[in-house]
Order: sequence, then C-alpha cells, then structure tokens
Amino acid sequence: MRSMTLSDRLDEQARRVMPGQHSNLPGYELFGPIWIDRAAGAHVWDVDGNEYIDYICGMGAGSLGYGIEAVLGPMREQLDRLPYLDPGRRHPAEIELAERIVAHVPSAEKVRYLLSGTEAVQLAIRLARAYTGRNLFIRFDGHYHGWLDNVYGGGVDPDPSGPPYALYQTDDLFTSKGLDPDVRRQSFKLPWNDIDVLTRTLERYGDQVALILMEAINANGGCCMPRPGYLERVRELCDQYGIVLCFDEIITGFRVSMGGAQGLLGVTPDLTTLGKAVAGGAPLSAVCGKAAIMDLCQERTVVSAGTFNGYPLGVVASLATMRYLEQDDGAFFRRVAEVQAPLVSGLREIAARRGVPLLVQECPGVVMCYPVPIERAWNIGDWYPVADHALGERIRKGLADQGVLVMFRGRWYVSGSLTHADATRTLEVMDGILASL
Ligand SMILES: Cc1ncc(COP(=O)(O)O)c(C=O)c1O
Repeated sequence: MRSMTLSDRLDEQARRVMPGQHSNLPGYELFGPIWIDRAAGAHVWDVDGNEYIDYICGMGAGSLGYGIEAVLGPMREQLDRLPYLDPGRRHPAEIELAERIVAHVPSAEKVRYLLSGTEAVQLAIRLARAYTGRNLFIRFDGHYHGWLDNVYGGGVDPDPSGPPYALYQTDDLFTSKGLDPDVRRQSFKLPWNDIDVLTRTLERYGDQVALILMEAINANGGCCMPRPGYLERVRELCDQYGIVLCFDEIITGFRVSMGGAQGLLGVTPDLTTLGKAVAGGAPLSAVCGKAAIMDLCQERTVVSAGTFNGYPLGVVASLATMRYLEQDDGAFFRRVAEVQAPLVSGLREIAARRGVPLLVQECPGVVMCYPVPIERAWNIGDWYPVADHALGERIRKGLADQGVLVMFRGRWYVSGSLTHADATRTLEVMDGILASL
C-alpha cells in the first residue's frame, strides 16, 4: 500500500474545514490530492517534492510563467508601501495602465477596473442594457462567462419554434443547484459560429437584444477559431440592430496577441472584458470599450462599485506585465509560438503514429488536445458529444502521474516560460501514455 504523503494529510485536514478542499470549480481539481508548495518558470512543485511541468498556469492567468522578477519586483515595492494599498483612493498607476490598454486593445477608448472576470462580464451586461434600453442578451454554447446565475450553464434548445432561451438540464456540463430560475429568461443561448442561426434569431428578436456576448476565440469550448467571415458578419448584424457587441477576452486578452483576439482577427467589438493574463497572475479585471458606452459609468448612471476595484497591487502587476509583453516588439508572443508549434505538431504526430484519434487545435498560448475522432471543431457541439471523455481523463491522469499538469477537457495553457526541453519531455510522456493504451 502507498504510504501517506504530505498531500494526503493536507487533504484530510482541508476536508474538515473547506468544502471541496479548495474554493474553486471541482472540475479543475486534480486526481488525488496535489498541494502545491512552490513554482518557478513553467514548473510547480508539490509539498512532497514532486516536480511538474505546468500547463494549468493559474487557469490561464499565469501567462508569463511563475516567479517573473519583472512583475514581482514592482509588486514587492507596492507591498512595502502597505498602508498605501488602500482601496478607494486614486493611484496614478491606474491612469498609465488605462492608457496602455487603450493603446493596445482596438476597442478600448476608456477603461474601468474590477477584480474578477465574472464581475467584468456583469458590468458589460449592465452597460449594454443601460445603453440600449433593452434587456435580453445572447450568449453561446461552450462559452464561459463566470459563475453568476445569468451566465452560468444551460444548453441550446433544439426546438426552433419558440424563443431560444437556454435549456437547463441536470446533465449539463456546467450546472449548479440554487440558480435563480427567473434569470433564465434574460438570455438566449445559441450555437456559436453559425451565422444562419444568429441571423434568424435577430430577424425575430433583434430589436429586443441589448448585447451579444462571446469569446471571439472560443478557448473554453475547445479552442475553436471563428469561421472565416463569422465575426465580421456578427459585427454587421450588431450595427444593423443597434446591439452592443462584447468580446469576452478574459482568456484571450494579452495572451493571443497584445490586442487580444480582436487585434489578431481584425474585428472590433463595442466592449471588451479583460482578466486573467491582463495582470500576469495578480487579481485584476477590466471592461474597456467605446467612450459613449463606458461614459455611462460617469456620474453613477451605471454603477460598478467594489472595495477592491483598481486595487493597486493588481494595477501595478498589470502595468509590469504590459511593460514585459511590450519588450522587443512582441518577442514574448514569438517565443510562445516557437515552443507551442513543435508541441502541437508533436502531439499530432504521436496521435497518428499510435493510432489514437486526438483532436489537437490551438490559438496562441492555448492548446486543446483531447480524444475526439474529428480533425477540426468549429464549436463545442462538433466535438463534445463524440469525445471519449473516459480516455481524456485517463490521459490527464497519466500525464499528472508523470509530472505534466493539464486542465480537464484537454486544455493546455502555454506560458512564456515553457521551454523546448519542457515541450520535448511532455511529448515523451504523452508518447508513453498512448503506447500503453
Ligand atoms: C472567457 C471567460 N470569461 C469570464 C471568466 C470568469 O472569470 P473569473 O473566473 O476571473 O471570475 C472566465 C474564467 O475562466 C473566462 O474564461
């Protein structure tokens, strides 16, 4: 019998005082307890001294890797001024950061800070409603916008006769007891990347819709890219019906490019939500967008209040992250691409050689690698129903057992600290796992 590890003991201890043994989504949990002790670069070590190559990267927040002095230095400096870390005061770094976000993110004319991605999305919804005087918003299957009632869960209703409200079923991938049933009538849920469905929906209900909310690259739904022309057409439809378009760039912002997905793909929304990588791992989120909409936050027309909004530690970390990412004209993004390319082609090559159907698709800084017998997915509906989820979890556990941590449903974040040696080691481990199936 395996002797009890320090992680096992911590798990027992945590069980007594922490439901779920931590405070996040249970699905992100690893198999068996792994309690992390320290991290450096692209590696983490657990309390028992085991080392892992980390593709979880703080659920995408740690885009640079761990222990980056360029970010930690300014944060330490702020901590040394602890009495000044006083929420609610004005901090000059907020202005410099907003100016940088405006310079980099195409849709950003003005910026408002919050703490979490969930909050940023809620402000975007409120702004769109205030701006348009309408209530309904449209969201898409496989897109994640936080854990609050009005955006969490629900599937696409296959019945085309009625309004396409989200259909809540107990076997939903994302579901929770305790949701307010009334909010279910606030949004439509549609398949993403299907312009015909959106067009038909807007023909009937377009004048009631305040907001179209989407991940412009659907990282949460399997790293699906928009079909050529899809975002452009969505943009046109929003203009035609007077609907606010918001790209939720909480994963893609400052990860896929300095301008996020909108910078990469050349379609500019009215509002953008930023979080995660915007502060390189420190807590900060933001909503930015057209001045005409953002200015509703002036004079309390639209309220977004929060004790920790614009918290100096997050702002300073974000500013340091910007400066780091700006160095050498995008060298960071080229470095990520240089390591990600052989990782992705290696995964495809191993899958083909071992005869295991793996769907491998990517955007800069994010890879999806999961047992699905198709070559390409345009939305979650293409792959989720035909995936071998049991094998997916077996592979994930095999990787973790051999020192490679990836997220569930095959999402891998590639940080700026991942090296060619890390990628090579990862491919060796993957090859061994697929060989042993
Ligand atoms: C696209 C997207 N939007 C919103 C959120 C919610 O952000 P947070 O977890 O910081 O509240 C997430 C989190 O994963 C996300 O991926």
